[in-house]
Amino acid sequence: MKPSVETPGTAGKPKALLQRVAEGGRKPVGFVLNGQPLTALAGDTVLTAVLTHSARLRFSEFSGEPRAGFCLMGACQDCWVATESGKRLRACGTFIEEGMRLVTGAEGLA
Ligand code: FES
Repeated sequence: MKPSVETPGTAGKPKALLQRVAEGGRKPVGFVLNGQPLTALAGDTVLTAVLTHSARLRFSEFSGEPRAGFCLMGACQDCWVATESGKRLRACGTFIEEGMRLVTGAEGLA
C-alpha cells in the first residue's frame, strides 16, 4: 500500500495538493486519514481536509493512477473515499466531522 501522503518526485517528503493561504481561524476538527491523526478546519469538505495533507484522494479503480476529484461540485464521481467502516463518501460534498476515520487507498472502496 502506498503511503497516504506520497507524491512522486518528492523523495519521500509529503506534499499536499492544496495549501491554505487566506484563513485558518476556524475551529480545528480532528480526523484520521489512513491511520494517521490529522487536523482540518470546521466547514472543510472531506476533499479539502484530505488534500491539505495529501496529493491524492484515492487511486482509480480502472488505471490505478492517483485521483483528486475533478468537478468539485458533486457531478463527476471522481472523489469517492471511504470510512474505515466501509461507508462510501463523496469527498467534495461531505463535510469533515470530528473523529471521522477515512481510508483513501483502493482497499477502502472494495
Ligand atoms: S469531485 Fe466531482 S463529484 Fe466530487
